[in-house]
Amino acid sequence: MAEPNQPEDVNPPPTAPVPETGVTANPPVPTAVTSTPPPKPPAPAKPAAVLAQEPSRRNFLASTAVGVGGTFFGSWFATAWTTFSLSMLGLTLGTVRFMFPNVLSEPPSTFKAGDASSYEENKVDDKFKEIGAWVVRHKDERGRDIIYALSTTCTHLGCTPNWLEGEKKFKCPCHGSGFKISGVNFEGPAPRPLERYAIRRTEDGQILVDKSRKFQKELGQWDDPDSYILL
Ligand code: FES
Repeated sequence: MAEPNQPEDVNPPPTAPVPETGVTANPPVPTAVTSTPPPKPPAPAKPAAVLAQEPSRRNFLASTAVGVGGTFFGSWFATAWTTFSLSMLGLTLGTVRFMFPNVLSEPPSTFKAGDASSYEENKVDDKFKEIGAWVVRHKDERGRDIIYALSTTCTHLGCTPNWLEGEKKFKCPCHGSGFKISGVNFEGPAPRPLERYAIRRTEDGQILVDKSRKFQKELGQWDDPDSYILL
């Protein structure tokens, strides 16, 4: 049995229309935030010194190649430069040597041979042989007592004869030439007598021999008073 005074229409009363304001009633559901984070501040630049101490692989290889190449080039350049310098030094020394030729040190051409009175007749003084002379006291062809200086050069091919006191002769060891005490050749291949040097007596009585002047018997030069000292 139906309730009195109850309307039959049991539909719910219409709800008030929702104004279309564009705003949804329901609050927006927060969605996942997709915005990108703010960029990090750039890292501070490393100091140049640090970069220099931390070479990259490329830098390391490059520097190694440069080092090896530099060493090789430096070595080659140093060798070439040294060779060039030595060549120039040799050239310079050769030029200087050409400009200043050898100056041979020769013994003086004159020497003192002691007091004339110290020489014995018919004797040969051998102590000046090393400097190229024998000093002899002997009678000449005219019987005069004289002192003269003989060259020690054999007139054959230039060897040095020896004075043989027992045989009273000069004997050349090369080819056997013999010379009398006067210097006259008498055996072997020597073609002429030994030569004599200029000789004189100084004011103090010393004998002075001058090897720069020579006298040859075959030219008649032994008659020159400068070729002997008359006692
Ligand atoms: S060099 Fe003296 S005999 Fe020949």
